[in-house]
Amino acid sequence: MLVAALLGSACSEQTPLSPSAERGRQVYVAQCMSCHGPEPGQDGPLGPAIKGASHELLEARIVRGSYPPGYTPKRPTRIMPPLPALAADVPALADYLR
Ligand code: HEC
Repeated sequence: MLVAALLGSACSEQTPLSPSAERGRQVYVAQCMSCHGPEPGQDGPLGPAIKGASHELLEARIVRGSYPPGYTPKRPTRIMPPLPALAADVPALADYLR
């Protein structure tokens, strides 16, 4: 009982992720966290908050180092390097960040 109550009140990161979102979380921790910080909903040491980033935005940023047509970037800088090797992980990242 007590355990269930504690689990229920824990922060959202404790809720089980789908396999795809869990894969996205692992990629995020390994490849993105150093710049975007441990909590995607908050600005990191280098990069802005990216929680809720769409599949389209992630693909443009990660695969091509660009932005979707008409998208207004959160930052005018060009610090983030393209990471095209992660193309196959974009759907998982989108699941994790949604
Ligand atoms: C070397 C540091 C660094 C790494 C690694 C990095 N980013 Fe970024 N990211 C940035 C910075 C800085 C920006 C702001 C624009 C710029 O300067 O490139 C940014 C911008 C973004 C944006 C656009 C935000 C917006 O709405 O304008 C997304 C989405 C994003 N990053 C996702 C990721 C994901 C996902 C990963 C891991 C696969 C990642 N980034 C890895 C530094 C990084």
